[in-house]
Amino acid sequence: MALESGKSLPIVSQDDVVRVRQAVRTVAVEIGLGLVDQTKVVTAASELARNTLDYGGGGIALLEKIEKQGNQGLRITFEDKGPGIGDIEAAMQDGYTTGNGLGLGLSGARRLSSEFEIDSRPGKGTRVVITKWKR
Ligand SMILES: Nc1ncnc2c1ncn2[C@@H]1O[C@H](COP(=O)(O)OP(=O)(O)OP(=O)(O)O)[C@@H](O)[C@H]1O
Ligand SMILES: [Mg+2]
Repeated sequence: MALESGKSLPIVSQDDVVRVRQAVRTVAVEIGLGLVDQTKVVTAASELARNTLDYGGGGIALLEKIEKQGNQGLRITFEDKGPGIGDIEAAMQDGYTTGNGLGLGLSGARRLSSEFEIDSRPGKGTRVVITKWKR
C-alpha cells in the first residue's frame, strides 16, 4: 500500500473540528471522490473529531492519502489520551451515549466509511481509524 506523508491536525477546540472537516473535504476532492462520498467521509470525520474533543479531552487527526491496487483512498486516524471506552461493543450501538448526544456518532461513522477500526483502553485513550476508498 503506497502512502503519502500525512497531515496531522490538533483537535482541542470547536474551531479545530471545523478545520478537520475542511481538510477532509479538501483531500476527498483531491483524490477524486464524488460529492456524495465526500459528504459521507466529512460527516464521519466530523462525528469522530467531536468525540475526540468532547470525550477524549482533545487529541489529533491524521489525514493520509493511500493507494491499494490502483485504488485511491483517504485514511483518517483520530487519537486521544482520554479516559477510553469501557464497553466498545455498547458504544458502537445506535443510541448509546454517556453524554447528551443521540449516540449515533460512532455507529454512523462506521456506516459512512469503507473501513472502520476502533481501539480503546480505559485510562489509556482511544484510536479510531476510518478509510474511504474511491471505488
Ligand atoms: N474518544 C472517546 N473517548 C471516550 N469515550 C468515547 C469517545 N468516543 C466515544 N466515546 C463514548 O462512546 C459513546 C458513543 O459515542 P457516539 O459518538 O456514538 O455518541 P455520542 O457522542 O454520545 O452522541 P452523538 O455523537 O450522536 O452526538 C459516547 O457517549 C462516549 O461515552
Ligand atoms: Mg459523538
